[in-house]
Amino acid sequence: MSTFIGVRNFTLKLLYRAIRPLIFLMDPEDAHYKLKKVGVALGSNPLSRSITSMLFNYNHKSLNTQVDGIDYRNPVGLSAGFDKDGELTSIYPSIGFGLAELGSFTGEVCPGNPGKRLFRMVKSKSILVWYGLNNQGAEKISARLAGTDFGPLKVGINAAKSNLTPEFDLQDSIEDYVKTMRLFKDIGDYYTINISCPNTQDGEPFVDPDNLNALLTAVTENRVEGRPVYVKLAADLEIEEINTIVDCCMEHQIDGVVLTNLAKPSHNQEYVKDELPYHKGAMSGLPLQRISTNVIRHVYRRTRGKLTIIGVGGVFTAKDAYEKITSGASLLHMITTMIFDGPQNISEINRGLVKLLKEDGFNSIEEAVGSRNPLPKLKAVDDEPEVKDVA
Ligand SMILES: Cc1cc2nc3c(=O)[nH]c(=O)nc-3n(C[C@H](O)[C@H](O)[C@H](O)COP(=O)(O)O)c2cc1C
Repeated sequence: MSTFIGVRNFTLKLLYRAIRPLIFLMDPEDAHYKLKKVGVALGSNPLSRSITSMLFNYNHKSLNTQVDGIDYRNPVGLSAGFDKDGELTSIYPSIGFGLAELGSFTGEVCPGNPGKRLFRMVKSKSILVWYGLNNQGAEKISARLAGTDFGPLKVGINAAKSNLTPEFDLQDSIEDYVKTMRLFKDIGDYYTINISCPNTQDGEPFVDPDNLNALLTAVTENRVEGRPVYVKLAADLEIEEINTIVDCCMEHQIDGVVLTNLAKPSHNQEYVKDELPYHKGAMSGLPLQRISTNVIRHVYRRTRGKLTIIGVGGVFTAKDAYEKITSGASLLHMITTMIFDGPQNISEINRGLVKLLKEDGFNSIEEAVGSRNPLPKLKAVDDEPEVKDVA
């Protein structure tokens, strides 16, 4: 069966390679909206969902995993930012995703940044994003999704603060996150509090410990029983900032962290230098791969595996996914691979994970989590000097 799926995925990969140049002729934001429309159409009736499933889906029992009390059919998820208005949930299970994070949603309707705001960096295998949190707003989206049965898909609700003014106001910003949490209290399986959008007018004010403390106090007061809460961190933080944020998360009994958001070119050497298309925005994909894995390794060790980690950034193959899992991630998110390699890569990554687990003698994802990132002796934890490079 696995061989048949492999041949199927290989054929689809060749097909995607053939049509990719045509997709890449379109403006990236246009292509994003057109492909989303295709997804909405495919998800709209049982026949097209079944055909999509035959072409793209993959199941294996060793991929079933439980994280913070939630049962996932596999650890491979769609990352926030692809489905900003939560319109495609009916099709994700057929493509093979175990989870999908919707949003980021903001309390108010948010048009995002003006002008051209999405750029392909083909040589760097990256997307430069300058969207600025465009979404229809939590009220409209939650009203549309209320009562939806997501089937086998587990759904994350990614909440951010609206990007409407350059002035930061602590109370208004907290109220913004809380508004989304309240409106989605009966929708989805977990929350992500996104404190790391690199494209907002007022920066990333929740890196400041006092602001973060106030935010997480409000988040904790508005938690819903049985719904884990995760915090999404930026890719470009200083080690002290990472430590402060994860320690604050532990103090507030936040369940975990999403590592990481996009990489700012000014802090990153991992892209092809002459390819940067715009002076604003931040990069997904390959330039982020090593950095996010390093942050995962550090946070797993600092917290001694007590915070759940969702690993994200430049996952293109099962090997990339497995590296993040064995570094400490329990679940994974991805976007850029779908754009560069095609949607069949979701099941190919899952299929490869089954093989890699078997090779290492593991029966489950849980057994593999952190297995190549041994924890330091207890007394050394506070003195962890720096983010270690991947071996
Ligand atoms: C087009 C695009 C839009 C994004 N928008 C958001 C967003 O609204 N909220 C968020 O938390 N992350 C957002 N991200 C970041 C992704 O969730 C993810 O952290 C990043 O792309 C790294 O994963 P990848 O290398 O697999 O793409 C966006 C990424 C892309 C490519």
